[in-house]
Amino acid sequence: MRAENPILQVKNLQVDFLVKKHTITAVKDVSFSVDKGTTLGIVGESGCGKSVTATSIMRLLPRQYSKISQGQICLDGEDLLAKSEEEMYKIRGTKVSMIFQDPLTSLNPVYTIGTQLCEVLLTHKIADKKQAFEMSVEMLRKVGIGDARNKMKTYPHQISGGMRQRVMIAMAMLTNPQVLIADEPTTALDVTIQAQILELMAKLKEDFDTSILMITHDMGVIADVADYVCVMYAGEIVEYGTCEEIFDHPQHPYTKGLLKSIPRLDEDTKILYTIKGMVPSMQDMPRGCRFSNRCPHCTMRCNEQHPDLKDFDRHQVRCWLMDGNC
Ligand SMILES: Nc1ncnc2c1ncn2[C@@H]1O[C@H](COP(=O)(O)OP(=O)(O)OP(=O)(O)O)[C@@H](O)[C@H]1O
Ligand code: SF4
Ligand SMILES: [Mg+2]
Repeated sequence: MRAENPILQVKNLQVDFLVKKHTITAVKDVSFSVDKGTTLGIVGESGCGKSVTATSIMRLLPRQYSKISQGQICLDGEDLLAKSEEEMYKIRGTKVSMIFQDPLTSLNPVYTIGTQLCEVLLTHKIADKKQAFEMSVEMLRKVGIGDARNKMKTYPHQISGGMRQRVMIAMAMLTNPQVLIADEPTTALDVTIQAQILELMAKLKEDFDTSILMITHDMGVIADVADYVCVMYAGEIVEYGTCEEIFDHPQHPYTKGLLKSIPRLDEDTKILYTIKGMVPSMQDMPRGCRFSNRCPHCTMRCNEQHPDLKDFDRHQVRCWLMDGNC
């Protein structure tokens, strides 16, 4: 898929972990790009490599036992993998920000929300103390937190989960980053608050012209926010296309399974569809197609040969079925 105006480009990314003296490849040959002002959704079940991909972009992988062994990550034309730690420190928070999977562990429990928000602006020398306070209050208002001035004095445990998530978004947006990476920003929230947070992110994207990388296991969230979609399975992209294409003309059996498992109001939802089986462990990957042990269309070829991600119309798909001679 070729982006028209890419702000973030990831090319052939491979991430390896050293586990008990063995190397496991958590992410393999992953390529995508995010256009200016658009949202790319990355979707897949637990353990598919979504967070590892996001953390690689931030260059926040644990250095002692992991490495980006192949690939390129470019932000606004700059090669992030060539940056020093000091340079990356400046880029993080200013050009690219991340909302992490768990807001409670991402916020420091011993500092007030105000202190933590101001710190972002002070560390990056964007404002002095007084300006930082006012800018933080303003951002809390923008993310829909009422009585913002007083909320600055509260500690993370004194506010609700939905509000903590808004604070995380405020913190990530304070420096007006070009790219916002949101790793499962709504997973821990109830449906109503989830809808409010997604609406808020869409509004911020419009107001600030931010590009968003939205990571989720929920196809429903993808349908609400994404312009483009990467479906990941067992460390690889198995399908990539516009949101419309993926929802209207899904090709990969895994994507079809994910779409079937979205609860629908017009159907009897007492028994929800689930994809049989589990994502294989990274240490014990099938030799051929990584989805072969769960796929209803699996053939001998699928068991033996690993399919490449290939272009089909406005899609990229990794499946032998697309060759017509599976
Ligand atoms: N710290 C780590 N040490 C060793 N292996 C890891 C580590 N973090 C991730 N991995 C490996 O990378 C794989 C992908 O992990 P990742 O956290 O990216 O999954 P995910 O798609 O974000 O899942 P989830 O939806 O549960 O957040 C894991 O299955 C695991 O094999
Ligand atoms: S390559 Fe074969 S096993 Fe893999 S998804 Fe396609 S049909 Fe299923
Ligand atoms: Mg994750």
